[in-house]
Amino acid sequence: MCGIVGYIGPRQAADVLLSGLARLEYRGYDSAGIVVNGEQPDLEVRKTEGKLANLRQLLADRPVQGKSGIGHTRWATHGPPNEVNAHPHLDCSGKIVVVHNGIIENFAQLRTQLVSSGHRFVSDTDSEVIAHLIEHYLHHVADQDRPSERDFLQAVTQTIMRLEGAYALAIMHRDFPDMLVAARKDSPLIIGHGVGENIIASDIPAVLEYTHEVVVLHDGELALVHADDLEVFNLSLERLEPELMDIEWDLADTEKGEYEDFMLKEIYEQPRALRDTLRGRMADDGTLQLSELAMSDDEIRELRHVYLIACGTSYHAGRIAKILIERWAQLSVDVVASSEFRYGSPLIDEHTLIVAITQSGETTDTMAGVTEAHLKRARVIGITNVLGSRITREADGILYTVAGPEIGVAATKTFTTQIAAVTVLALKLAQVRGTLPQAEIEALFAELSRVPDLVERVLADTDAIVAAAALFEGVDSSLFLGRGIGVPVAMEGALKLKEISYIHAEAYPAGEMKHGPIALITSRVPVVAVATSSATHEKVLSNVAETQARDARVLLVGTQGDQKLAALADHVIYVPEVSELLSPIVSVVPLQLLAYHVTKARGCNPDMPRNLAKSVTVE
Ligand code: AGP
Repeated sequence: MCGIVGYIGPRQAADVLLSGLARLEYRGYDSAGIVVNGEQPDLEVRKTEGKLANLRQLLADRPVQGKSGIGHTRWATHGPPNEVNAHPHLDCSGKIVVVHNGIIENFAQLRTQLVSSGHRFVSDTDSEVIAHLIEHYLHHVADQDRPSERDFLQAVTQTIMRLEGAYALAIMHRDFPDMLVAARKDSPLIIGHGVGENIIASDIPAVLEYTHEVVVLHDGELALVHADDLEVFNLSLERLEPELMDIEWDLADTEKGEYEDFMLKEIYEQPRALRDTLRGRMADDGTLQLSELAMSDDEIRELRHVYLIACGTSYHAGRIAKILIERWAQLSVDVVASSEFRYGSPLIDEHTLIVAITQSGETTDTMAGVTEAHLKRARVIGITNVLGSRITREADGILYTVAGPEIGVAATKTFTTQIAAVTVLALKLAQVRGTLPQAEIEALFAELSRVPDLVERVLADTDAIVAAAALFEGVDSSLFLGRGIGVPVAMEGALKLKEISYIHAEAYPAGEMKHGPIALITSRVPVVAVATSSATHEKVLSNVAETQARDARVLLVGTQGDQKLAALADHVIYVPEVSELLSPIVSVVPLQLLAYHVTKARGCNPDMPRNLAKSVTVE
């Protein structure tokens, strides 16, 4: 929800912090700020409302010098997005400074206690209590004038033990200019471990310019970070062995290159991302290779039910997975939005498999579902795109998508690679349970392996998609229809459109239109239908005809060669022929591009849509 960066080393900290925040701006962008510890030492704070460009301008007007600092780009949770509420936040002494990602659920109670003991607050944020609480404990653990680094660490630890909720923190003290402290619980935080320098960050893209070696902080751990070393502790201040990871992403992966927007670049990266995700998944003997599931064949055969839990776009991938697993593996499946699952009463036992789909690996609702599943002794598999993310440490098995970093807030390549991953998972379950002939498994996998080529053909000619965007000029609402596996595709198309163009878009099973939603149809409510070859193709076309009879403007996504479509639609986007159950990847790409072009035509920013952030680490 917010982006955090911290730097300590030989460079000017302000430059590193700005560069890192720019690579994290997709995580939140309603205000930003940095603090740098100068040579005196002296804390120099610069913060602004609005996007990072405003902070960059402020620093150009009022530069700061210093080799250590912390910075933050905000997605407001408590307190309006303004300069006062922008991070960093300081204590009363002005010596302790904090940036925070997450939510402190007991901040009101802590603030009341601190105010009653004389602390003076200046912001409306929950985060500010952290700085004052550290100040409070520092008074108790050290002599007033000359606290040691260890005293400061002790005060931070005692503060953390009072916090309820989620936090990723970077903390500084004016009198220790060569030291940063980092800590995390339920919010992502890594430390880029460079040569003579270290960079704390919310996410990998912020450190790749300086190092590919990353220390992953786990929940309940904190780190004492100097330029030349870093030490990891638990909350009892016992030293732990840092967990190092080598990140294979390149810096170029986190830049737009020749594309105008990250979203467009990531849409066009899908053929490569799909090939990388599918690579090596079938052995020469036809066995599907998913050893990272960490499940024996017997455990797979003993499964009786699967819950797929996810949010947003990942939930739509879950809806596709349900159809595939039920059809091929003959296992009953429930797909539940994570925010509902965690407060529901799911029937879970040792024969239940929970599949948590989360590209970031950090979504709070989904991670809470994982915790709930473990409490009920279920096995959890995570499907994620981010190495070292929280789900990789909490799930029993992990299936990685290999999409590379996805910077655009709207999920695109992570969605289609999730579909590829769940397709392989469904085939694997069927193979082990013997519910699908081996020849059919191999044929389906061979066709799936050709899907990236089909996506390339869609991307090679987008004129019809750009033309169809005109349907949405001046409209406020739209309907997306499909049947069968086309329904989650329609849901994803609707989400893409509404989350970046702000046009209301509602997805509906086409057969349900006559039960109410058809009342919405006018010439000003465009209808988009997934009308590719399928067992219910004729039914979809008749539902579309019912809307057209009521003056609807229609856009169809159809299969190349299907001549019937032109008479039924104002626009047709043709995609290559593919088996119905493998069609979602191919049919969603035009809808991704449609949303993108409509958004650009409306002058909106597809990479940083209002009110949204890339990773939702709050409830
Ligand atoms: C998708 O375009 C959105 N950005 C959002 O719905 C996202 O899919 C959702 O927040 C889930 O994120 P996750 O996959 O990282 O858990």
